[in-house]
Amino acid sequence: MKRAFSGVQPSGVLHLGNYFGAIKRFTDFQDEYDCYYCIVDLHAITVYQDPKELPRLINDTALYYLAAGLDPEKSTLFVQSDVPCHAELSWMLECVATFGELSRMTQFKEKSKGNESFSSGLFTYPVLMAADILLYDADVVPVGEDQKQHVELCRNVAQRFNSRYGETFKIPEAIIPKFGARIKSLQDPEKKMSKSDPNPLGYISLSDSKDEIVNKVRRAVTDSGREIVYSPEDKPAIANLITIYSLCTGLEFSEIEREFEGRGYADFKQALADAIIEALAPIHEKYRRYAESGMVATILKQGAAKANEVSSQVLKRAKQRMGLSLLADPVGRKLR
Ligand code: AMP
Ligand code: TRP
Repeated sequence: MKRAFSGVQPSGVLHLGNYFGAIKRFTDFQDEYDCYYCIVDLHAITVYQDPKELPRLINDTALYYLAAGLDPEKSTLFVQSDVPCHAELSWMLECVATFGELSRMTQFKEKSKGNESFSSGLFTYPVLMAADILLYDADVVPVGEDQKQHVELCRNVAQRFNSRYGETFKIPEAIIPKFGARIKSLQDPEKKMSKSDPNPLGYISLSDSKDEIVNKVRRAVTDSGREIVYSPEDKPAIANLITIYSLCTGLEFSEIEREFEGRGYADFKQALADAIIEALAPIHEKYRRYAESGMVATILKQGAAKANEVSSQVLKRAKQRMGLSLLADPVGRKLR
């Protein structure tokens, strides 16, 4: 069975972009792939996280994984910091990745822009992500558009490692959805919907109540004119709302245009709010059930045990290739 690997940061509320761009799609892979889905807390601490809050955010992210339909019987769910191989391989790969290629990462440029001081972890972040993926010999990496460049970096570093030290890592492939790979902010269709947006009107969180959803959709920016047509160049705000409506209802863009022909933005927004509420209702229900069950800790513990087993084998292989650790050497100079 081929392997899939992906991760989500526990750095705040999860929003519709995370859901349609990533988590919902994770469930599509469960039957065909051996899936590893990670809560990447080591990535989250590249910017300050309150230690009193972080455990709650990790737990909440796990609950949303489960609420979105991930089945712990089929997929391995775990927390990154419970598997020490990630940080260890990350260091080894930092010695293969170059300063120049990391400097070209657009996410780093965006996140560091205007800040005089940022952690060095923010800069090396994509190398840790490469370690995450390579430790599981992943074939595919389902992610949103914004992570494409990071997966490309992972491929380059893995290829360089393989050619320098001998065949070690499988070269993974990013799987980006055709639609919904980049849901935009409801307040600014030039920007992606993001959990670090200081204005909560920009995103719909998976935990928003019906009233909050109605309010946010009503206040979403629109374009000039009043037709509901999908035209990302001329009408980026409406195109974004149509994309969300399509993802919630399964309707094609042309069907949506037909449904709202001759009707204005107000009608469309009302229908959109209803569609989002309906799409999120089963998630809320499952979230509540999992939260009450108290099963999350056990699921994550079992997941970490399995992830440790798989990743330690790959780490050992990489250490041997690099000539590190006599204990990892297969040919007899054993200290064991
Ligand atoms: P993050 O919240 O940065 O940990 O992202 C988790 C996953 O959600 C990644 O696969 C991202 O590519 C995806 N994602 C984040 N924001 C969006 C968005 N606005 N639209 C689509 N996918 C997104
Ligand atoms: N960097 C990703 C994000 O912010 C999260 C992530 C970390 C990830 N490690 C990963 C995604 C490995 C896919 C595979 O969205």
